Amino acid sequence: MKKILVGAAFKMNKTVEESIEYAKELDIFIKEHAERLKGIDVFVLPTFLSLYTFSKLLSGSKLKFGAQNCFWADEGAYTGEVSPMHLRKIGCTYVELGHPERLNILKEDEAMINKKIIGCLRNDLKPILCIGEEKEHPGKDEVNDFLKKQIRGYFKDVKAEEVNNIILAYEPVWAIGADKSASVEYIHDSLVFIRDFLDLEYGKNTGKNQLIIYGGSVNPKSAFEILKLDNNNGIFIGRAALNYDYFIKMVNMAIGA
Ligand code: PGA
Repeated sequence: MKKILVGAAFKMNKTVEESIEYAKELDIFIKEHAERLKGIDVFVLPTFLSLYTFSKLLSGSKLKFGAQNCFWADEGAYTGEVSPMHLRKIGCTYVELGHPERLNILKEDEAMINKKIIGCLRNDLKPILCIGEEKEHPGKDEVNDFLKKQIRGYFKDVKAEEVNNIILAYEPVWAIGADKSASVEYIHDSLVFIRDFLDLEYGKNTGKNQLIIYGGSVNPKSAFEILKLDNNNGIFIGRAALNYDYFIKMVNMAIGA
């Protein structure tokens, strides 16, 4: 059975109280539907402030949680940064890295993301690594060249056997915060390319075994057909997941996909 992930990133939304309320309800839903949710991992990435309470609330729960960023070193004189080791110690499973909002607004670059990936892997955290081209291209070559270059840069010094510990989030920048998701055909073509490229670079089956999810304006209207794509492992949701009922709808769609 294909593994499916359905994840929400709150970005800088929801207070600690609101995030906890959301997680409590979601945890109950997941417990009640445990049988139907076999093979589906649901996760939430709230702001840093909520994570410690999440760790207490969700210890032993099937609902996974993680951070939207971290630093690359485990500890030291790095004012204001958050250690991947500390995140792991409170039970985070995931850390989102490489989101275009961090690249564009916070000026993170390829070398920084690369170090953060290595810091996460060292601490047994799964990076959810955003990749994707800036502009919509009708021809495939430009998209593929961009993805190739981005993956090579981000994966520098990542051992071949560790590649599958990274979750790739294919998020075309132009489809984030937009009116609609990329088309399923467009997503499909990019995912075919990414899987083939991983096979070539890191050995056969790396691409086949790679978890790749799609993000970018996913909502209850677009989620089902994206989930049904046979080479896609799930959806990563921003705005639409802020509405708890919408998120539950999309989790239910993953069961039927
Ligand atoms: P969006 O955000 O669903 O609001 O487009 C997606 C993302 O930034 O990952």
